[in-house]
Amino acid sequence: MADTTGNKSAKNFQSDVPASSDGFYLKGLNGYDWGVKDRMTRMFDTKSGKTVMLAFDHGYIMGPTSGLERMDLTVTPLIEFADVLMCTRGALRACVPPTSNKPISLRCSTGATILGREMSYECVGVAIDDAIRLNASAMAVQVFIGAEFEHNSLKNLAELIDAGLRHGIPTLGVTAVGKDMVRDARYLGMATRVCAEIGCQFVKTYYCAEGFEEVTAGCPVPIVIAGGKKLPELDALQMCEDAIREGAAGVDMGRNIFQAECPVSMIKAVRAVVHEGLTTAKAYEMYCDLKVEE
Ligand code: 5RP
Repeated sequence: MADTTGNKSAKNFQSDVPASSDGFYLKGLNGYDWGVKDRMTRMFDTKSGKTVMLAFDHGYIMGPTSGLERMDLTVTPLIEFADVLMCTRGALRACVPPTSNKPISLRCSTGATILGREMSYECVGVAIDDAIRLNASAMAVQVFIGAEFEHNSLKNLAELIDAGLRHGIPTLGVTAVGKDMVRDARYLGMATRVCAEIGCQFVKTYYCAEGFEEVTAGCPVPIVIAGGKKLPELDALQMCEDAIREGAAGVDMGRNIFQAECPVSMIKAVRAVVHEGLTTAKAYEMYCDLKVEE
C-alpha cells in the first residue's frame, strides 16, 4: 500500500548539511566502483586500514613445503586469525572449509616451478569465471620485473586486471625477485610502481631495511609485505613493525607464521603489531606468553 502520509511529511532533507564526499580509506582507490571498494573493505580493516593476509600458496611452485605438508591440519587453526587467505584454487577447494567465510586472494598465475628452467615463464592460470565462482576478493598475479619473461608476466597482470575490473574484483600484483635481482629500494620501488601503474589495486613486495618508506611513498596504492624465508620470531615481528611504520598497509605472510614454533601465537602477535601498533618487544612478549598456552 502506498504511504502517501509518510511521503507528504518527508521534509527532513537537512539541505544545510552537505552530503559526505569523503575519500575512500585506502590510498589511491577512490576512483574505483562499489564492488572493488567492497572487496577491498572485506580485506582491509576499516579502523586500522591494515590487513594480515595468510599466504599458503607456496605449493604451486614448490610442492609440499615445510609447514604445509598437511594444509588441512596446519592451516585450519590459523584461518580464524587471518584477515585474508592467499592460496591456490586447489588448496582452497581441498582444504579450506567454505564456512570459514574469509576473503580469498586467489593465486591466478602459474606455469613454472622451482625445478623448471625459468621461474618467470608464467601464464594466467585461472579463468575469471572460476575466480567469480570461488567468490574471490582478489586475484594475485606474479610479475618478474627485469627477468627473462618480464613481458609475459606483465601481460598476465594486465589481462587479469581487465578481467577483474569487468566484475569488480581487485588484482594484487606480486613482485617476485629473481635470483639476479637485488632486493633494494630502487628495484622494489620500480617493481611496485610498475604494478600500480598497470592498474593493480594493491601490491605485494618484500621489505628492505633501507629506503622502504620511499617504496611505499612512490606506490600510489597500498603495499603489503611478504615475509620471505623463516626468520627468528623476534626478527619477523621487528620486520612487521618496521614495514608498518614505513608505510606498509599490512603483511601477506606465510613461512614466518606457519613455520613458527607456535603458529597460532605468531599470527596473533603479528596481528597485534599490524592492527594495534604493538612494539616488537611487547609483541614478542605476547608471543612468548601465548606460546606457553599453545
Ligand atoms: C610467492 C608468494 C608467496 O605467497 C609468498 O612469498 C609467501 O609468503 P612468505 O614469503 O611470507 O612465505 O607470493 O611469490
